Parts: sequence; C-alpha cells; structure tokens
Amino acid sequence: MSYSKISQVAHYLPEQVVTNDDLSQIMETSDDWIKSRTGIEERRISKTEKTSDLATEVAKKLLLQSGYDAQDIDFIIVATISPDSMMPSTAAIVQANIGAKNAFVFDLTAACSGFVFALSTADKFIQSSQYSRGIVIGAETLSKTLDWSDRTTAVLFGDGAGGVLLETSEEPYILAESLNSDGSKGGLSSGITALKSPFSVESVDQPYLQMDGRSIFDFAIRDVSKSISNIIETAPIEANQIDYLLLHQANNRILDKMAKKIGIPREKFPANMMSYGNTSAASIPILLSECVADGRISFDGSQTILLSGFGGGLTWGSLIVKI
Ligand code: ACO
Repeated sequence: MSYSKISQVAHYLPEQVVTNDDLSQIMETSDDWIKSRTGIEERRISKTEKTSDLATEVAKKLLLQSGYDAQDIDFIIVATISPDSMMPSTAAIVQANIGAKNAFVFDLTAACSGFVFALSTADKFIQSSQYSRGIVIGAETLSKTLDWSDRTTAVLFGDGAGGVLLETSEEPYILAESLNSDGSKGGLSSGITALKSPFSVESVDQPYLQMDGRSIFDFAIRDVSKSISNIIETAPIEANQIDYLLLHQANNRILDKMAKKIGIPREKFPANMMSYGNTSAASIPILLSECVADGRISFDGSQTILLSGFGGGLTWGSLIVKI
C-alpha cells in the first residue's frame, strides 16, 4: 500500500488590495463594524485574473519548487465554487496552461471545505498505487459571485489561491480524516444558480452568493468544533502533539470560540483573514503556505497539523497531517 505526503506548498494572491474603508465608500458599512465582527481588515480582489489564472500561478510555483516537469504530474484537482466556467473545468484550463498532458483533471465543489475534501480525494488516488504525484489547489475569485450592494456578504469574501503537491510516501503522513455533509441545510449558504429553459415550469435565478451568517456561525461553533474534538480523540496522537490547527478563515470570532470549545490554546490557531477575508476553498492552503514561508511550520516532517474546512453544502471536514 502507498501513502501520500505533502511535498510542496504555494500560494498566489491578486495584487489589488481593497480595504474596509474602500468598501465603506460604496456601501453602508464601516471599518469598525467589519473588523469587530469578523477580524477582516482588507482583502485581495482580482482586476483581470480569473480563478484559473490564480490556480495556474500556484501550479507553476509548485513545479518550480519541486523541479518536476509538468508531464510528471498524474492528476490535478481544483477545489472551487467560482470556476471560470462549468466546462471546461478550471483544472482543465490549468492543465493546458502548464502543459501537464499526462494528468487527469477535474474540479471539486465543496465550498469552504473544498480543499480538505480534495486533499482527501487525492490521498486515495495515491493510496491506490496507480498514481504517484498530484497537484491539489483551492482557488477562488468570489468577488465575481457577490452582490456588491449587499453589505451582509460583500464585506466578507476575497480572491486567492493556494495548493500543494502530493506525492507517494512509504510511511503515512495523513494520520486521520473526518469528512461530513448535511445537504438538508444547503439553504444556509447558496448562490450562483441559473436554471432557465423555455420548457421549465419554474425558473430559478439566484445569481449571487447568499448566506445565513448567524446560522453558519452557530453551526461552526457547535458541529465543527465537535467534529474536530472527535477526530483528535480517535487519532493516533494526543491533542498536545498538534502544533497548529489551520481552520477555514471565515471569521476571527469563530476561531476564538472554536479554540475555547475544543480546549486548545488560541495561539495554535493561525489566522490571516485580516489580510485576505474569506477565500473559501483557498483559505486553508494559503494559510498553510504562509505558515511554511514564515517558519511556523518547519516542513521537515517533525510537526503535526490539523486542517479543517466548513461551509456551504453544508460541508465540513478535517485532516490530521504530519508535515
Ligand atoms: N456593515 C454594517 N452593518 C452590517 C453589515 C455591514 N457589512 N452587515 C450586517 N450589518 C448589520 C445587520 O444589518 C444587523 O443590523 P440590525 O441589528 O439592525 O438588523 C447587524 O449588523 C448585525 O448583523 P448580524 O448578521 O447579526 O451580525 P453577526 O454578528 O451575526 O455577524 C457575520 C455577521 C459576520 C456574517 C457572522 O454571522 C459570520 O461570520 N458568520 C459565519 C459566516 C461563515 O462562516 N461563512 C462560511 C461559509 S460561506 C461559504 O460556504 C461560501
């Protein structure tokens, strides 16, 4: 049996910074409200780049860092809820852009849990021993899915991409996983549907991302915290052996409350939503890449981290990873 290991991490952000003050010029909001309710101070918003452009930059960095040729890549998975198009997939555009002609590619849609679900999926391909090397990316340009006149959603999100190279390893690096969904609560966070045909009885047209923020907040504190506590309890390690918990970056207050509920010091929950907002599927790999870049994660196999995503679907999931 093969195991998988994260061998490279990278991220890429669009250049344009939009501050809370910038937003208060175009809608009824304030830096004080956004910062105190969410922790967010600014976000990156793409001017011209599409989701595939951000993801391509990440893929190029992963190749450059690893020294592999694009043709050495067996598969590419892009987790996104803001693809350039439904067809071709964003992963297919990335494949063409980097020339990974031996890869099979697809997008995965699980909102803010997308990267965790995609990494778990990639792990299974490698465990099958049929594939030895894959690129897993979370990439979003959520800015194009927002109703910019709706202050309850527009201030929360940002654009960006992050990803990893996953390779065969002789020993396990992914130590535990827990993936969950509750489709009966799908209405709590939805959007970007346009089902129209001259023959349909009912046409649905909800072009923008919508969210019941309060309910998702409560769900994160209650259900996601419980699920993280469970995975830690059943994993082959003790809670105090986890160096960092890299959680989806939706809201700093969620991290405060979850840390308390799980019973692990808040210092072990890195945060970067102040700089990037909620980048959905991209938030965890961007944070991981930043933690490696600044040395918090030494990336020499000596540390253990927990990755946890939660959001629309509803979906939530965690992986405990040696890194
Ligand atoms: N600026 C100023 N006032 C605002 C703004 C704004 N941008 N947005 C809302 N308000 C107002 C509301 O209208 C309300 O006013 P009222 O009391 O007069 O009605 C007041 O502020 C409080 O609003 P709440 O919604 O109760 O604020 P809350 O403290 O719940 O914070 C927030 C809202 C930040 C959205 C929070 O609920 C949250 O972070 N939820 C979790 C979101 C999340 O995790 N999403 C991830 C999944 S999304 C996905 O999967 C794509």
